[in-house]
Amino acid sequence: MATIEVKRSVGEEDLVGIMELLDRARAADAHRPLGEHKWLDLAQSRRTGYAGFVARAGARSPLAGYAHLSRGSQSWALEVVVDPEHRDPSEAVRENLISVALEEVRHEGGGHVHLWVAKPGDVDDAVAARCGLHRGRDLLQMRRTLPLELEYPDLPTRPFVRGADEECWLEVNNRAFASHPEQGGWDLGTLLEREEEPWFDPLGFLLHEADGKLAGSCWTKVHADIDPPLGEIYVISVDPAFQGTGLGRGLVVAGLRYLGSCGVGTAMLYVDSTNSPALALYGSLGFTVDHVDRAYVADI
Ligand SMILES: CC(C)(COP(=O)(O)OP(=O)(O)OC[C@H]1O[C@@H](n2cnc3c(N)ncnc32)[C@H](O)[C@@H]1OP(=O)(O)O)[C@@H](O)C(=O)NCCC(=O)NCCS
Repeated sequence: MATIEVKRSVGEEDLVGIMELLDRARAADAHRPLGEHKWLDLAQSRRTGYAGFVARAGARSPLAGYAHLSRGSQSWALEVVVDPEHRDPSEAVRENLISVALEEVRHEGGGHVHLWVAKPGDVDDAVAARCGLHRGRDLLQMRRTLPLELEYPDLPTRPFVRGADEECWLEVNNRAFASHPEQGGWDLGTLLEREEEPWFDPLGFLLHEADGKLAGSCWTKVHADIDPPLGEIYVISVDPAFQGTGLGRGLVVAGLRYLGSCGVGTAMLYVDSTNSPALALYGSLGFTVDHVDRAYVADI
């Protein structure tokens, strides 16, 4: 039986153990086990508003599992990684980590909780149900090959300028994503953190202006740590005043052309399964669903 310890901040030794666990899980599952937001919380341990939970079968054993709980402006987000050797049909390590993390939420006053699971199966539905969570949103990861062989006029864009474009980008992006639980609440601190990431490339962060004002943007990201590298349409948003006028299509095309020019052979993106305009757009540009990430939710 694994014991679980709560971490309010992650020291060097913990970080090494967690990274080794993530590597083992990634090799077994062929996907990145902890979402980017969580990973940034960990790597930048100065951030507050999160707790980590490590499960160990013995004092000196490698980690059996890790749960990461972070508090957003409107809800809590939870992700759980279990060592492949500690996954048995009972999924006891996973269930215990989730239960302890939910107890922490309760202790901190409660709220809405999302547990994100990549490539969910029946066993995930069952564990979530035992912990009092039910199925919420499905996020689709869609992919298509590059280069984009499509006759489509180039939409004029310019690269993002650090130190100058933050305010207008946040304003347009947050309005475009006003009804989106995670993307609609970006603040300057979050954006500046992303700008410090090694993958940040202003040349692949494309802005389109109309009447001298930002009308939409397509922010791309190259995952050079994946072999072969993947190119992501990371954030795309069109000012609501301009939606439905062809900017979204022009911006995705511009982003895909940029990724193709970087030598990337596959493009991917994440889209909420209920975002019909975006799904229609991506489908018409040849994207197909690679896999699903699911949120299990509860109000505590
Ligand atoms: C998704 C988004 C980027 C599309 O941009 P847009 O400028 O409105 O889209 P376009 O005018 O270029 O339309 C492109 C295609 O999208 C689809 N589309 C656009 N609006 C639609 C709507 N209201 N309903 C259904 N499909 C729609 C259509 O397939 C359309 O192609 P068509 O014009 O040939 O029919 C934009 O709606 C947006 O910023 N939404 C909020 C942020 C967001 O959801 N981003 C995507 C997250 S993955």
